[in-house]
Amino acid sequence: MDDLQTLKDEFLSRLANAERSSDIQELRTEFLGKKGKLTDLLRSLGDLPAEDRPEAGKRINEAKNLFEARIKEALSDIQSREIKQKLTSESIDITLPGISPEPGGRHPISRILDEVIEIFVSMGFGVEEGPEVELDFYNFEALNIPRDHPARDMQDTFYINDDMVLRTHTSPVQVRVMQERKPPLQIIAPGKVYRCDADVSHTPMFHQVEGLMVDTKITFANLKSVLESFLHVMFGPDTPVRFRPSYFPFTEPSAEVDIGCIFCKGKGCRVCKSTGWLEILGSGMVNPKVYEMSGYDPGKYTGFAFGMGIERITMLKYGIDDIRLFYENDLRFLRQF
Ligand code: FA5
Ligand code: MG
Repeated sequence: MDDLQTLKDEFLSRLANAERSSDIQELRTEFLGKKGKLTDLLRSLGDLPAEDRPEAGKRINEAKNLFEARIKEALSDIQSREIKQKLTSESIDITLPGISPEPGGRHPISRILDEVIEIFVSMGFGVEEGPEVELDFYNFEALNIPRDHPARDMQDTFYINDDMVLRTHTSPVQVRVMQERKPPLQIIAPGKVYRCDADVSHTPMFHQVEGLMVDTKITFANLKSVLESFLHVMFGPDTPVRFRPSYFPFTEPSAEVDIGCIFCKGKGCRVCKSTGWLEILGSGMVNPKVYEMSGYDPGKYTGFAFGMGIERITMLKYGIDDIRLFYENDLRFLRQF
């Protein structure tokens, strides 16, 4: 019985010190296994005097039950502690940087369009819009391009019906604004326009920004200064600017504006076709006929208008030689901006 007490003490103190579940499994084998210490004790019952055996057997069995109960208890304690430990050590570190989805980017045409708008807004121009499906009247007739006028051949038009077209330029917005408001006027009209046209420098849909400034004393000098200022902000202060006589039915006189080729610095290259100049926009003093059609007194007001192609400007800014790249949505192209 002394042996049993010693065994109990040893078992309980070692169980109390067990740290891992594997320690407890070892204890179970050491005490309760086939060759375990308690099993040995049970086997040695036969050595006792017969009258002592029942009592001793009972005590040993009680000890066995106690050991088993304590082992079970200790195991479940340790196992839940081990699970907790595992969860803590494997928990997600929310301070690590995440894997974020690739952000989208602005399309190069949108960027340049915004840049152009911003420059004119900084010079005091307001922003107006007009419909893309436009009446023949606004797109042509009010701009001094009658139905049988040869100037209609300058633009290949998508007709919706006899009276309606997809606008071929942003100039119809000039007339719409003048019909609604009295001078002084200082507006730009950005937007999409359409022409039946497709090659390396022409797409069926492209963007223009129209400009219109009307008051009682606006002269060609104002036109020159506004456009020169714009081009110097857009392409750099040292960029040469040239006004070249041209023709538009809705302006008189008319001028096309060129900048010195930004690729060869005017020496002559493939892009400027060896001329040293690149055409940027059309412009001119508003034709009195357009004032008449818009309900303005042509004797009272003067003003200028201009229209530029945004794809053209974007190609020049980024050195892109094929306009169709803008609308193919090839990510390898778009990611460069
Ligand atoms: C006009 O459209 C006139 N409305 C501009 C104007 C406005 C003149 C106000 C006077 C006063 P034009 O047809 O040249 O002009 O077109 C202007 C610009 O649009 C061109 O310089 C070019 O940059 C661009 N453009 C014309 N056709 C295309 C096309 N198919 N694809 C891309 N850009 C084009
Ligand atoms: Mg032109």
